[in-house]
Amino acid sequence: MMSEVLLALRPQPGGRYADGTVGGAGHAAAILAASSPSGWLYGCDRDGAAIETAKRRLAEFAGRFDLRQGNFAQLAGWVPLDSCDGVLLDLGVSSPQLDESKRGFSFQQEGPLDMRMDRRQQSTAAELVNGASAEELAKIFWELGGERNARRLARAIVRERERRWFETTVQLAELIERVVPRHGRKTHPATKVFQALRMTVNDEISSLKAGLAGALKILKRGGRLVVITFHGVDDRIVKDFGRARARDYTFTGGMDVPELRKPRAPELKWVDRKAVKPGAAEVAINPRSRSAQLRVMERI
Ligand SMILES: C[S@@+](CC[C@H](N)C(=O)[O-])C[C@H]1O[C@@H](n2cnc3c(N)ncnc32)[C@H](O)[C@@H]1O
Repeated sequence: MMSEVLLALRPQPGGRYADGTVGGAGHAAAILAASSPSGWLYGCDRDGAAIETAKRRLAEFAGRFDLRQGNFAQLAGWVPLDSCDGVLLDLGVSSPQLDESKRGFSFQQEGPLDMRMDRRQQSTAAELVNGASAEELAKIFWELGGERNARRLARAIVRERERRWFETTVQLAELIERVVPRHGRKTHPATKVFQALRMTVNDEISSLKAGLAGALKILKRGGRLVVITFHGVDDRIVKDFGRARARDYTFTGGMDVPELRKPRAPELKWVDRKAVKPGAAEVAINPRSRSAQLRVMERI
């Protein structure tokens, strides 16, 4: 969604931008090119390999960016507050992460059950799959994957690991396929479980909530926050964040009772109420983009 991102961020010479998910630096390079000769980019990614790739890719823009390995949840800890004209969060995994079997993100290739974006982190997917209770696993599969067979799959995993530990992606994917056969479905039955495990291993929900709040802090007034999500759980968090910060009141206790509202100035407005989706041409070239949704907010 390159053109949609650039249209939303409107990079200008002299502008300051932050890319919290630099990955292979496709968007970052486009932002730096569009803001030549003096635009500046703060970039981070949890994945050290992505940062190395990004540094090489951005070499032609040397002196115009600061790249660091880290979680976008901490952007406001090092990017000056109220300084940015635009912040981009392009969530999820990158193609290099999925394609490299030893990272353990893909059920289509044999690899260790790893799934860590930041390999300095201790806990892996193997630890989760071999250590969590059936109840914990079922909760993860249901809440983060929307997996309808969550309980059945969780119980089967716990039974199977009494026989032998889960070590590889394919070992887990095969068990899932035995418990929930494909029956002509297009998507592999392990898709949702793998998504839920990845989100848990990388603590993606907490990171996203903190990342959105931090992004708003580093934006100038009039600066834009652009977020691309790939599934409903993330998109719901972005929508809820935008709605809450666009309101001119707050409420406590988790329930919006009109009589108990407290007035306060809204912090942002939606640039477009509806999410932007990729066009058919992009989906044809890059099928992984089919579930992408882009949302744009502006700090006020
Ligand atoms: C879809 S890719 C981004 C691709 C990038 N926009 C490009 O143009 O190449 C997502 C990237 O976000 C990173 N990521 C995911 N969650 C993160 C987080 N909480 N903090 C920092 N990076 C994160 C992943 O490691 C991955 O490299």
